[in-house]
Amino acid sequence: MQGKKILIGITGSIAAYKIILLVRLLTKEGAEVKIVMTKSATQFVSPLVLSTLSGNPVLTDLSSENEWANHVMLGRWADYMMIAPLSCNTLSKMAYGVCDNLLLAVYLSATCRVGVAPAMDEDMWLHPTTKQNIEQLKSQHVDVIPVGFGGLASGLTGEGRMAEPEQLFSFLEKQLMGSPIHKNKKVVITAGPTYEHIDPVRFIGNHSSGKMGIALAEAFCMAGAEVHLVLGPSHLKPKYTDIQVYHVTTAIQMYEKVMEHAKSAHIFVMSAAVADYKPKSVLQQKHKKKNGELHIELDLNPDILFVIGQQKTNDQYLVGFALETENAKENALEKLSSKNADCIILNSLEDPEVGFGKDTNKICILSKNGQTVDFPAKSKSLLANDIVSFISKEVNHEVA
Ligand code: C5P
Repeated sequence: MQGKKILIGITGSIAAYKIILLVRLLTKEGAEVKIVMTKSATQFVSPLVLSTLSGNPVLTDLSSENEWANHVMLGRWADYMMIAPLSCNTLSKMAYGVCDNLLLAVYLSATCRVGVAPAMDEDMWLHPTTKQNIEQLKSQHVDVIPVGFGGLASGLTGEGRMAEPEQLFSFLEKQLMGSPIHKNKKVVITAGPTYEHIDPVRFIGNHSSGKMGIALAEAFCMAGAEVHLVLGPSHLKPKYTDIQVYHVTTAIQMYEKVMEHAKSAHIFVMSAAVADYKPKSVLQQKHKKKNGELHIELDLNPDILFVIGQQKTNDQYLVGFALETENAKENALEKLSSKNADCIILNSLEDPEVGFGKDTNKICILSKNGQTVDFPAKSKSLLANDIVSFISKEVNHEVA
């Protein structure tokens, strides 16, 4: 982000505090940051903190002490203007060209690209007028960063949370660094475990949390893709409501959902820990304990990765995951060819701090065109960004 000029517009919303971290992330990476705030934004976050962190005066008024703030030059100075958090009030003014403060004057005169990160309570976010205003902004080529689901300022839980500072940062990075994005790409991701029923209360499952697949869904979403996430039983869910989530329980259900998109998807990322076997028959009543051994007959589940590998076209890109306990790279290479995948992401089991259920992971990507790229242990969301960039280069036939 060295030398990139970013203009941040802050409006009155509790989420304004997150901008402190965003400014920090941007300046640390060498970006130049200038900030414009509405009057009400100054009640939520201190201009002093922001001017200190950005190293530039924070502007709030069209004029102060006989000086006129040159909104036209500010809009021309920036490589990108991000209005975050975007309140319902400023959203409606932007949609209709109202110009009653410095932030709006800068927006209306900005020649650079503009993005907004809305933040509001769910009821306001879902109001038809808000939806209409968002559509209006989109039609004016403003980038709208999806809102998240979670705790809201009102104390309620729902849609309307502003994206997190790290996500805003990686969004800006992708816009400004010309790094590969996945606009107009449809991506199908499987994630989480599957549960294979034995009887009404028992199942065969595994410890997968779905974290890696969810991080990938979020990273692809940020990179502009249309994301369809087929998620096995997991208490987690992606932050962005733009991601289409299909909740499934069994491998068969996961298989059926993926098959619905088999022809139309451009990229498949099979990160789920699918149970290889399922009980041959599911008992209708709870199994009663008896003396002696219990034998449960198992049937093979469909191998989703394999089936997609058999029927994919040259324009479709297929990613598989591997978790190996011995001869990791050899086995991953074998999987690459036997499943006809375009790349395999090998999870390391060497480090006890990474992997299943953890927030960090350590991977190696082995691709069909002979590349082997090792990544150091890092957070699953940072790795997801690396994977998204790697796939983009592969899809666009650039050297990764
Ligand atoms: O062959 P193995 O199960 O080790 O392969 C792991 C990869 O295959 C992962 O990408 C996993 O999501 C996928 N897989 C699948 N369907 C299965 C089993 C595994 O898609 N039934």
